[in-house]
Amino acid sequence: MSPQHRRTKPFISGYVLQIVIVNLFFYHVSHSLNISPGERWPNGVVKYKLHDSLTLKDMETMKSAFSDYHTKTCIRFLPWQEKDVDFISLEINVNISYYSGQTCKTGGYQYARIGEKNRELAYFIELLGLALCLDHEHKRIDRDEFLGLHENCETIPTKSALSIPRGIYDYRSQWHWTCSSCKSGQPKFSNVTICGQTVNSGLSVLDADGINDLYNCQGCHRHRWRPAESLTHADKANMYSFGIFANDGTPIYPCRAMVATGSVIAGRFVESTKSCRISEDLAQYEATKNVEVLTIPGGLVKDCSEYKLENKGDATLINAIQVSGWNSNYKWKSYIAYATVNMTDGGNDNSVGNVWKEDGENGFDRSAEMPVGSVGLRATEYKVLTCSRDTTCMLNELYDNRRRCN
Ligand SMILES: *[C@@H]1O[C@H](CO)[C@@H](O)[C@H](O)[C@H]1NC(C)=O
Ligand SMILES: *[C@@H]1O[C@H](CO)[C@@H](O)[C@H](O)[C@H]1NC(C)=O
Ligand SMILES: *[C@@H]1O[C@H](CO)[C@@H](O)[C@H](O)[C@H]1NC(C)=O
Repeated sequence: MSPQHRRTKPFISGYVLQIVIVNLFFYHVSHSLNISPGERWPNGVVKYKLHDSLTLKDMETMKSAFSDYHTKTCIRFLPWQEKDVDFISLEINVNISYYSGQTCKTGGYQYARIGEKNRELAYFIELLGLALCLDHEHKRIDRDEFLGLHENCETIPTKSALSIPRGIYDYRSQWHWTCSSCKSGQPKFSNVTICGQTVNSGLSVLDADGINDLYNCQGCHRHRWRPAESLTHADKANMYSFGIFANDGTPIYPCRAMVATGSVIAGRFVESTKSCRISEDLAQYEATKNVEVLTIPGGLVKDCSEYKLENKGDATLINAIQVSGWNSNYKWKSYIAYATVNMTDGGNDNSVGNVWKEDGENGFDRSAEMPVGSVGLRATEYKVLTCSRDTTCMLNELYDNRRRCN
């Protein structure tokens, strides 16, 4: 069976829910996060001390938590050294359920405590995020558009009035508690059945995108998804179509949006209507709200990193720019694909669309879904957007810096 037929992801005839994200005064900054006000760690470097209360196993778990940040963002957790004034003390505490920590950088000693019964990777990652100014997604002030709360629940999680919600609401966020519970409510997108830590015990794509923006990460972490309705001149200058134009002469830019099923997937930006045209299972959606456009500040080649299109067989998962994924069966991840599509009338046209990758499978799906024609078409020949780092260039830079310093 071809991968396409193996797919279990059901067909949905749908429409794009039009959700206005209440983003208040911060609409120019995108990304799915709920940001606490407070001081951030300079250059994303967080110094830590391991408390005596941590066992060897806790240290291993902490290391995995660091490594999740280190792979997906430019945040660096580094051991405390003699001269460091500001640091986090990582502790296990018998008196705490879940965890307890201080928000953002407080200056001097600050604690991050895990409850004795909650020594799990997900909690460690979540706890570290507190110190980076991340607040819970299900406490966003605009969360009522996305979550209904159980009528017979006694305690309803409060909204964080001071935190700033940004970008597309993310049910998969590491800072979203398990859904369909009293703790964090029932998703209003009925197709979203699991949330937050149930999805995976690591940063979601939108979490990582948000952190990379918040801490101005560079290299292959420097692409930014910007809200379509408030693109600045600078954003527009940072949009790339990789030299690919549609037959009508318009450049082809990638966008992403949440579709009616709650999935966040890639499509083609329509500049005149600021919408994102998405094809999924041979149905076409036009998302007009909640649309984000891909920008790459600094150009395609910068700091020894290069964003480029690669043939589907050459693109590796490590390098491919992930968009997000399928709503409830989280094994399906979504990526950006460009293709020249065979139109039904015999001609062809270029477009950008979505390609899935299923966990456990080698390589991308057999075909990418392109928002062209009336319902969209599948393309078996396509290129995937990737970013790779040039190690020779990085070594040269290191060498140059050393020489300059000596
Ligand atoms: C836990 O609480 C008890 C009682 O208040 C206290 O004596 C003890 O020091 C606390 N333990 C920690 C690790 O904070
Ligand atoms: C999505 O939700 C609708 C309405 O509840 C349902 O009919 C449909 O089967 C669901 N689809 C998936 C893929 O879960
Ligand atoms: C278009 O059709 C040709 C000939 O059948 C085929 O070789 C090519 O792969 C098709 N293109 C796409 C994008 O599927």
